[in-house]
Amino acid sequence: MTTLRIDASARHDDSISRKLTDRITRRLGGDVIHRDLAKTSPPLLTEGMIGSYFTPPADRTAEQKALIGASDAIVAELQKADTIVIGMPIYNFGVPAALKAWADLAARVGVTFQYSADGPKGLLEGKRAIIAVASGGTESGSEIDWATPWLTFFLGFIGITDVKVITADQLNVEAETKIEAAYSDIDTLAA
Ligand SMILES: Cc1cc2nc3c(=O)[nH]c(=O)nc-3n(C[C@H](O)[C@H](O)[C@H](O)COP(=O)(O)O)c2cc1C
Repeated sequence: MTTLRIDASARHDDSISRKLTDRITRRLGGDVIHRDLAKTSPPLLTEGMIGSYFTPPADRTAEQKALIGASDAIVAELQKADTIVIGMPIYNFGVPAALKAWADLAARVGVTFQYSADGPKGLLEGKRAIIAVASGGTESGSEIDWATPWLTFFLGFIGITDVKVITADQLNVEAETKIEAAYSDIDTLAA
């Protein structure tokens, strides 16, 4: 089994979401691909990249192929993984910018989703995702949490509908209790 672990926290040693993704990946076992979005932020979309996305692969120039190299790598990791574990701090009521940049490279028409008569269809099927949420004051799932519903919806859009959310939220209020509860949740995960 292969797990793709994605960390979005700008912090490292003090990061709670990283503590959760670390524990989750150890719990799941198997091979781990680690993408650290804070160490290497994905490039922001450019007009040239969008043009390359919509050019049939056989017609892409060498320059167009190079432009979407980062996107190809992100998509290949998703295709290889059975489980995707995402450490997601809430920043300013949304997701960290690097995680949004990652999503903009993961959504590839004809590769990770396609349009059909019934609307968009996700192409990354048979996978599951686990989102590990950390927040200071925002309650996960509340009306001011735009991060968790957005990421859950986005994963569904690319075909990953089996999504579990593990929460260490409102850490400003009761950090230890919240982290322990998240650990207990992780310790019941099936490999
Ligand atoms: C730039 C920034 C913005 C933040 N915005 C929010 C926010 O909107 N809501 C919230 O509850 N916590 C907010 N926080 C607190 C973080 O979500 C909290 O510290 C969390 O533990 C960060 O994840 P980490 O421990 O993995 O680094 C913010 C933190 C930073 C650094």
